[in-house]
Amino acid sequence: MKVAIFASGTGSNFEAIADHAGLKSAGLEIVQLVCDQPSAPVIVKAQDREIPVTVLRPKQFASRQVYEQAIVDQLAPLAVDYILLAGYMRIITPVLLKAYPQRIINIHPALLPAFPGIHSIEEAYQAQVTETGVTIHYIDEGVDSGPIIAQAVVPLRAGESLVALETRIHATEHQLYPEVIQTLIKSNSKEHSSR
Ligand code: GRF
Repeated sequence: MKVAIFASGTGSNFEAIADHAGLKSAGLEIVQLVCDQPSAPVIVKAQDREIPVTVLRPKQFASRQVYEQAIVDQLAPLAVDYILLAGYMRIITPVLLKAYPQRIINIHPALLPAFPGIHSIEEAYQAQVTETGVTIHYIDEGVDSGPIIAQAVVPLRAGESLVALETRIHATEHQLYPEVIQTLIKSNSKEHSSR
């Protein structure tokens, strides 16, 4: 199964997917990293693993749609089965959604629909919820709002610091995303064999 990973930052989820031995042996190929931030650490992580990198700066395009069309054009010859968002800090427009219907997946560090947006770990922590967690979902035009594929619960511990909670949430992400991808690989190979 061929995927493109879209990321804007650190790339710990990118790393967890790229270095997962089970995914490699199940046939996962990361054919492209797409990044919108020229200085993002995830770029070096891809280069170290000889994964092709495309850096496109949205500001250099006339609109979000033109920017995404440039991505669609770059990916077209690669026959990508899925786009995996891993800390990609942009809202996806209908241009990509129409090119990859039900094929764009995101990871979010909270139990959606609770705590959408970019400060979800901190907001859950401040709200003193008993549990938070991680969600993997299909993307639609909203913010963190498409159909949910999988969730993992992370209970808050008494007296725990925000940093400790963040660490546990990220560790959970690094487990859950590969698990979901394994399932996608299985359903994708069934789809291909029934064509
Ligand atoms: C993760 O917490 C992910 O859930 C969110 O952005 C963060 C990206 O982290 N969407 P990293 O770049 O994968 O380390």
